[in-house]
Amino acid sequence: MIDLMSADAMADPGWVASELLAGERVILYKGFNPPFYIVSRYADVESVLRQPDVFISGQGQGPNFAPASGVVSDPPDHTFYRGLVQDYFQPKAIASLEPRLKQIAKEQLDTVAAERAWDLHDTLAFPLPIRIICEVLGVPVDDIWQFKRWSDASVAALAAEDPSMFAAEAEKLREYLIELFDKKRRQRDGTLLDRMAHAERDGQPIPEQEALSLTGQMFVAGNETTTSLITNFVWRMFKLDLWQDFVENRFDLDLAINESLRFDPPLLALFRTTARDVAIGDATIPAGSKVMTHYGAANRDPDAYDDPNTFAPERRGKTPLSFGLGIHICLGRELARLEARVALNALRERYPKLTLESDGVRIPPFFFWGRSKLPVRS
Ligand code: HEM
Repeated sequence: MIDLMSADAMADPGWVASELLAGERVILYKGFNPPFYIVSRYADVESVLRQPDVFISGQGQGPNFAPASGVVSDPPDHTFYRGLVQDYFQPKAIASLEPRLKQIAKEQLDTVAAERAWDLHDTLAFPLPIRIICEVLGVPVDDIWQFKRWSDASVAALAAEDPSMFAAEAEKLREYLIELFDKKRRQRDGTLLDRMAHAERDGQPIPEQEALSLTGQMFVAGNETTTSLITNFVWRMFKLDLWQDFVENRFDLDLAINESLRFDPPLLALFRTTARDVAIGDATIPAGSKVMTHYGAANRDPDAYDDPNTFAPERRGKTPLSFGLGIHICLGRELARLEARVALNALRERYPKLTLESDGVRIPPFFFWGRSKLPVRS
């Protein structure tokens, strides 16, 4: 039986994908409490995500059962909360952020202008997404490391057998947001947080708990994931000896970002819960079970991609499942792609002779894939 937390698994998502794809279509994974089922074939993951009434989200996106809140819920609540925030993520709204993103990228790279050895995660990959989402939300960016601690704690709680270990940090984020909501109620400023602080449903203000959850989700969803997209991309360029091709613009960057998302998905998987017994192939998953939809494996399925274990920078074809699919498809996917494009362009223009010092440090949660340190030399 595969161990998703073994050294091999943590070091290489390709190894996990090969193991899962060589096994049964559905497996029951007992290495976590509570145990969960795993689906790994592209067609099966797609089918699960396309049946939100059978594979529900309202019991949490992680392996633990958690109450529904914000967009981690099912229709009609999900439809309402997604509708409340989605116009901030329409293509026009995202495109308007590009000049600001370029400025932030420049400012961040300026901070290491006098250095030779520095960390790509700390300098660019983590501050860029956190600063822009704080601006969109209308959260003052006084201490991005404080936000990072809260964001990391939420992510760690999602993947932990005992999420209560992270309750203290969650409570601090909650208190901080309650105070901010009070301010927004007194003074309108057109930000997303202002929208949430004044939102009504059927003529009634939305419950504060829901507004807080939704804000927390908007805040956390796009941080670590986009940071990982940037670090994974740069790391992979060096590992495959593609850095020079990247610097000389020898392949289309948007296609290469898409290939990075396929090959190195920042979220290797998320979870659904079965609303009833469901048959997949010869297996029956009982009602009330957690099901892991393994994007990392589905993205390497040979029935979906030719030569799936090769990183082909200009690959076209099926959309990788890294942003999910169906009614919960990532709301921030265009923002994430834009952030990556801006960060990577800024990096190659400014530091074409960059070299990798070491592999840095992998982020801990087992179904996430990215780096919390990536030392480089310019
Ligand atoms: C590379 C970066 C990103 C990756 C890999 C990623 C991945 C995902 C995935 C897989 C889902 C589906 C969740 C599910 O099916 O349960 C999702 C949903 C979501 N993402 Fe992203 N995401 C990224 C960036 C962002 C950004 C920048 C934002 C915006 C701030 C964002 C906001 C959201 C929201 C609000 C949802 C929930 C949508 C819903 O349930 O209707 N994401 N993301």
